[in-house]
Amino acid sequence: MNVPNHIAIILDGNGRWAKSKGMPRTYGHTMGAKNVETICREAWNMGIHYLTVYAFSTENWSRPSDEVSAIMNLLRNYLKTCQKTAKQNHMCVRVIGDKSALAPDIQQSIADLEEYTKDFDGLHFQIALNYGSRDEITRAVNKILAEKAEGKIPADAPVTEEMISEHLDTAGIPDPDLLIRTSGEVRLSNYLLWQCAYTEFYFTDIHWPAFSVDELKKAVENYSGRSRRFGKTGEQVESEEKNV
Ligand code: IPE
Ligand code: IPE
Ligand code: MG
Repeated sequence: MNVPNHIAIILDGNGRWAKSKGMPRTYGHTMGAKNVETICREAWNMGIHYLTVYAFSTENWSRPSDEVSAIMNLLRNYLKTCQKTAKQNHMCVRVIGDKSALAPDIQQSIADLEEYTKDFDGLHFQIALNYGSRDEITRAVNKILAEKAEGKIPADAPVTEEMISEHLDTAGIPDPDLLIRTSGEVRLSNYLLWQCAYTEFYFTDIHWPAFSVDELKKAVENYSGRSRRFGKTGEQVESEEKNV
């Protein structure tokens, strides 16, 4: 089976899942966070090397303040648990998004987690927090301008696609091969717009806390049967595959 090297997931439907069980939305977030751990472990077992999950968007600050605080508290606990899991699984963890808007203690936990796991050679696990693709691209362009002003990049050098990629939060991480969105919405919600230029999309009605290992396998099997052409014809791809 052709297993994707990098899967990106929009973890959606925590609230609806909880509501369907007569529980508060925050219960959905708690169970959703637990499911992230299961999926990280199983993704690695299936041969997936990179996993990037959307946990909190730049737009999610506009939710009711008690829900935002509950998510931030859950994140505090999650980051601690993640350090233990990373130790066991040898997971290398990186947070993408604008960390500067997060509470100082959360920023510190993230820095500690990234430092502690930076040389681990298991799953590369990216968590998107206060992440928005437009914000990320805008920050990347401003970083390039600042480096030009400082002379780190020659003032007359043209901006290239590589230069933009290298200044994104995902610098050094290969583009996702497969993007999964749970819970029935069929949109990107400002997620990895640059990186998903050639990514395969998979949408499912299952809510994130109920997205099991079998559901992950289903998504990977579906991906595996697709023909990725990258602009070429189907015939070209077939003959290249025969020659491998
Ligand atoms: C995803 O679940 C988690 C976050 C966006 C933080 P939602 O909270 O969006 O759940 P629904 O979509 O309202 O059901
Ligand atoms: C996208 O989900 C963001 C995350 C999963 C963190 P939302 O539930 O916030 O997206 P919209 O608002 O329905 O597009
Ligand atoms: Mg949602």
